Amino acid sequence: MTQILAADKAGVSHAAALLRSGAVVAFGTETVYGLGADATNAEAVAAIFHAKQRPRFNPLICHYGSARRAFEHVIADQRALRVAAAFWPGPLTLVLPRRPQCPVALLTGAGLDTLAVRVPRHALALALIEAVDRPIAAPSANRSGQVSPTSVRHVMDGLAGRIAAVLECGPCEVGIESTVLDLSGTVPVLLRPGGITAEDLQACLGPVGHTAVSGAAPRSPGLMLSHYAPRLPVRLNADTMADDEAVLAFGPPPPGGCCRFQLSASGDSIEAAARLFEGLRSLDADGARLGASRIAVMSIPKIGLGPAINDRLQRAAAPRTG
Ligand code: TXA
Ligand code: MG
Repeated sequence: MTQILAADKAGVSHAAALLRSGAVVAFGTETVYGLGADATNAEAVAAIFHAKQRPRFNPLICHYGSARRAFEHVIADQRALRVAAAFWPGPLTLVLPRRPQCPVALLTGAGLDTLAVRVPRHALALALIEAVDRPIAAPSANRSGQVSPTSVRHVMDGLAGRIAAVLECGPCEVGIESTVLDLSGTVPVLLRPGGITAEDLQACLGPVGHTAVSGAAPRSPGLMLSHYAPRLPVRLNADTMADDEAVLAFGPPPPGGCCRFQLSASGDSIEAAARLFEGLRSLDADGARLGASRIAVMSIPKIGLGPAINDRLQRAAAPRTG
């Protein structure tokens, strides 16, 4: 049962308590409804992907109550400070480098070194983020492949029974997603057109590049991201382990291997998703220290988040270019 929480103080504090406990809760912003979870809790973030039935882990936007809080977790340069002052709170998302001590779960950013951050312009969303007192990871609150919801009705049509609650926030004023601006490189790049126009950004920043595919139909920039790939080669569906292999285990591991990271001893795909990026990074580091020649990954059944985990592992195992 998905609870519909009223747009009042009690509704906000109930939603905040659910989020702090690791539950998934939808809430309205000025753009579209988001499917929120505590961005610092990897299992809660994995539950977002499970609820949406997303076939892959694309990076999610982290929502903050103020620019000051956002910039505690990412590194803001002069350009970021300028656009944040001009457009936040509002429908603009900035992609910036994570700070080394950033507490946001690696799964939230799909293992990338950058993080997408935004401060929404909706009184209830801001009240909710403040009450939770943690960043909220939130993709649009629809099932994968469906259109973004702009009312509680839409959210319930797609996700009723799959999430703990939705906070009634009224109809969304902007109705399209936030503009995604990548400021992690030397040239600002518009990754997704949205609520703030390219002209507005240019007036503030000067020239802004576009991704090759931007234009009439916004396509997912998630597909073009250069994803974190371990330095060690990756071998998939391993059922026996050599002594020079760093083992990414799922359930009881076979003997062998020079080091091991357990994704989920009980074979739970949500737990495994939550630990995936941490596992790849830690085996890469431990493996390098111990002279491992590769990472060997046990097979992961295609149930629950299994397909998304496999998608990510296949890309990690694909031949490298450059
Ligand atoms: O208006 C919005 O932005 C809504 C509300 C809920 O805030 N959220 C939303 O999230 O549209 P989502 O997950 O549906 O879209 C996030 C977009 C994706 O296109 C993703 O690829 C991009 O932001 N993105 C997130 N992190 C990124 C990163 N580190 N680098 C590049 N692109 C990133
Ligand atoms: Mg979406």
